[in-house]
Amino acid sequence: MSEKLLVTSALPYANGSIHLGHLVEYIQTDVYVRYRRSLGDDVTYVCAADSHGTPIEVNAAKAGVSPREFVERYRKEQHADFQRFGVDFSTYYTTDSEENRKWAWRIWDALKSRGLIYKKSVEQLFCEKDVRFLPDRFVKGTCPKCGTADQYGDVCEKCGTTYDPRELKEPRCALCGTSPVVRASEHAYVDLKKVEPAIRAWVEGEGHLDAAVREQVKGWLDDLQDWCITRDAPYFGFPVNDPEFPGKFIYVWLDAPIGYLSSGERYFAAEAPAGERLDPAAYEAAYLAPGSPSRLEHFIGKDILRFHAVFWPAMLGAAGLKLPHRLAVHGHLTVNGEKMSKSRGTFVTARTYLDSGLDPQLLRYYYAANLGPGVSDLDLSLEEFRNRINADLANNVANLASRVFALVERAGGELTGDPEEGIAGVAREALRLARPAYQALEYREVVRLVNQVADVCNKQLQVAKPWEAPSSPASRRLLLSCAGALRAIAVMLWPVMPVFADDLCAAFGQVRPGSWGIDFDPFVGPPVVARAKPPQIARLDAKQVAKLVADPAAEPAAEPPRVSRAASPAETASKASAKPAAAAPPPPGIIGYDDFLRVELKVALVRAAVRVPKADKLLQLTVDVGEPEPRTIVAGVAVSYPEPEALVGRRIVVVANLEPRPLRGITSQGMLLAAGDPPRVLFVDDGVAPGTRVK
Ligand code: 2FM
Ligand code: ZN
Repeated sequence: MSEKLLVTSALPYANGSIHLGHLVEYIQTDVYVRYRRSLGDDVTYVCAADSHGTPIEVNAAKAGVSPREFVERYRKEQHADFQRFGVDFSTYYTTDSEENRKWAWRIWDALKSRGLIYKKSVEQLFCEKDVRFLPDRFVKGTCPKCGTADQYGDVCEKCGTTYDPRELKEPRCALCGTSPVVRASEHAYVDLKKVEPAIRAWVEGEGHLDAAVREQVKGWLDDLQDWCITRDAPYFGFPVNDPEFPGKFIYVWLDAPIGYLSSGERYFAAEAPAGERLDPAAYEAAYLAPGSPSRLEHFIGKDILRFHAVFWPAMLGAAGLKLPHRLAVHGHLTVNGEKMSKSRGTFVTARTYLDSGLDPQLLRYYYAANLGPGVSDLDLSLEEFRNRINADLANNVANLASRVFALVERAGGELTGDPEEGIAGVAREALRLARPAYQALEYREVVRLVNQVADVCNKQLQVAKPWEAPSSPASRRLLLSCAGALRAIAVMLWPVMPVFADDLCAAFGQVRPGSWGIDFDPFVGPPVVARAKPPQIARLDAKQVAKLVADPAAEPAAEPPRVSRAASPAETASKASAKPAAAAPPPPGIIGYDDFLRVELKVALVRAAVRVPKADKLLQLTVDVGEPEPRTIVAGVAVSYPEPEALVGRRIVVVANLEPRPLRGITSQGMLLAAGDPPRVLFVDDGVAPGTRVK
């Protein structure tokens, strides 16, 4: 049965350009949205520019335009960039809208009528020159703890201490440099303790939060702080509509998530296709009222978890609206292992990526290949990016498509009939497993399944050599099977690379099904014909990828010369003599880089772990090394793991090209890395795909 969903991504501040860090979230959400749409679900994906707050007001003034004009420029630019990356919002609205004002006032009134708002006088730093209270980030001074100069008013970047801006030594206004004074002002606070049980019940609810995230939120609930929801003028935001708080403005973080609701309202009232429009009351009944027949799912980054897991349920609950069904929380992006940084040249905007000429679908693929449901950070290693695209897309999937296409052309005519059992079995099983993987946001598993299917086909072509007799019944059957497998790949890959996937189907005269139903069979459909050249993925070279970063130091290192195993001795010798320095043997006790590369270290995912009977020290592991079949590894680590299942789901490093050897009657197909006495296994971060080379 198809479902209705309202899905959101966080609303970016209309205060800057979209960068690759933002795109992790929008691509993650869009892939999920497309996956649900491909199942036939009715998904409304709303987003908007987050348009209020002090920084926007200050930057608009600096730019010499009104805040409204300022945010509209960024809103348009952001929307265009998202579209170029295939992010298919139903609407990209703004929080500075009439709809949002109405919703914000309504939620304020609801909080108030439930007795949740109280007034408190607070002392803050005030700049007499700028005539404004200074938010924490608008004060700079010396850290009261470690004495480091030039720190912001909330946290010291050197020692990590958090403090009140009034504690800074020698504070100064970040706008004009003068020394601020302390002034009192009355503000509205939300008494969160009164609604703590309701928030906690939601936090504990099945499917709402991942386990690790839930624990973090429970920590905040144990020590709940009331929340200030007003700001003083000058401010770009909605005025408070409450005579008890004259002249105050609604804090941006109150009206930002309300932007999810108001953008949905706007979409259904004015932007949806004619037959799907809903007036505000009908929209509320269908999407927001408790028990309404739809799911509400928010995608956010871990930095804004508290707003969404503590404050937001409190607001929705007070307003008598339903609470979210899922809060999907992701980690941040690092580039080449470090935080993106303007000074290091690794702060890559969406525009820089587009200007480099790289296909946006490649970034979508790389992110998907590295995304799971957890909050671990995702690293855009430029070298890994290139390797991934080349190994998976160019050499495996696209290569399969062009090989099969050429052979179908040579086989002539239409191919129909039953597929080979082997290929069909692997493809159908991959399709079956990909659905729950998408639902669980385990995109890297989908990517693994896609590659497994392509790999099986490529290997089968290598064995059967259909190019020797393309029109023979056996060849025709194999080609038909490979074309069906490619159709399965297209269906699985469509949420990630929609254009590529559609072109893949079209190449063989096939279509993607309207709905990826449980009974979809890629081997049933129109006959296979060579209709149009399949989409190509060109291999990336290091130079092309290095264009993403401004600093040459961040470019991937040039690959050291490798001595190919296939090279003849004469060839090797001539290369060596052309480069005498490279030929000198390393000093005793030191190995050359080539020696190191001969050991194939790969990341493996532990699928099963059991004791070896009658061997106290041995465990038998089944590990996925990114190959079609899992490997068995016998390792002497049992003493450290009395419950071997604890290893299941962990990522380890194995020597993948070690000669297989029998141990207690079991053939061990590799060796894992461990250290200590008794030995303990070395683990790898969740973000690294099984099969990734360790270098
Ligand atoms: O952190 C941010 O970029 C905020 N603009 C996110 C807002 S998400 C939602 F609450 F609107
Ligand atoms: Zn000032």
